[in-house]
Amino acid sequence: MKTLIILAHPSEDSFNKAISDEVKQHLEFKKHEVKIRDLYKLNFDPILREDNYTSFYQNKLPKDIKVEQDYITWAENLVIIFPTWWNGMPAILKGYIDRVFTNGFAFRFTKGESEGLLKEKKAVVFQTTGQSENVIKPNQLVSSMETVIDVGILDYCGLNVITHKFYFSVQHINKEAREDMLKEVNGIVDIL
Ligand SMILES: Cc1cc2nc3c(=O)[nH]c(=O)nc-3n(C[C@H](O)[C@H](O)[C@H](O)COP(=O)(O)O)c2cc1C
Repeated sequence: MKTLIILAHPSEDSFNKAISDEVKQHLEFKKHEVKIRDLYKLNFDPILREDNYTSFYQNKLPKDIKVEQDYITWAENLVIIFPTWWNGMPAILKGYIDRVFTNGFAFRFTKGESEGLLKEKKAVVFQTTGQSENVIKPNQLVSSMETVIDVGILDYCGLNVITHKFYFSVQHINKEAREDMLKEVNGIVDIL
């Protein structure tokens, strides 16, 4: 199996980075080929500028976007890891999707109909939060993020979303609870 990890967190000491390391280690142990696109380390430019905007509709791709699309083409699975920032994903990841998931690559939109083009691939999403589940869930914030990300983006592009796992209040939990979460991460990616 070929798995691409897309990580959107600026800190090496973050729990998000720990999830990414855990996924990589576990899947490599299971003989997956694993590649990582660490968007901050890559200094990925998330801004869809005028030239890129024009190319979005013409399928003439900037070089940096073609590189990212080749990674996605290579992968059978995408594992997307990010913290919740303002009840959504960090801007760098949103910009990655804006620029990389282009018409003609991730989906095809013709005559008012759209078709996902990443059909054969599976996706697993790990998303951390600062707030507790008790605060976030009653406000429908979890379900709204699941709808936007899983349905509005990934499923729209044809990806088969296996799990969208939230880890709540991660800055406020102890070492043991974090270790339990990381063990659970292994169990989740075992289905890939
Ligand atoms: C700019 C910014 C916005 C944030 N917005 C939210 C939010 O809307 N909801 C929430 O639960 N936590 C929010 N947080 C907290 C992060 O989600 C939390 O610090 C992160 O998930 C912890 O994981 P980490 O240790 O890997 O950074 C925000 C943090 C930052 C820096």
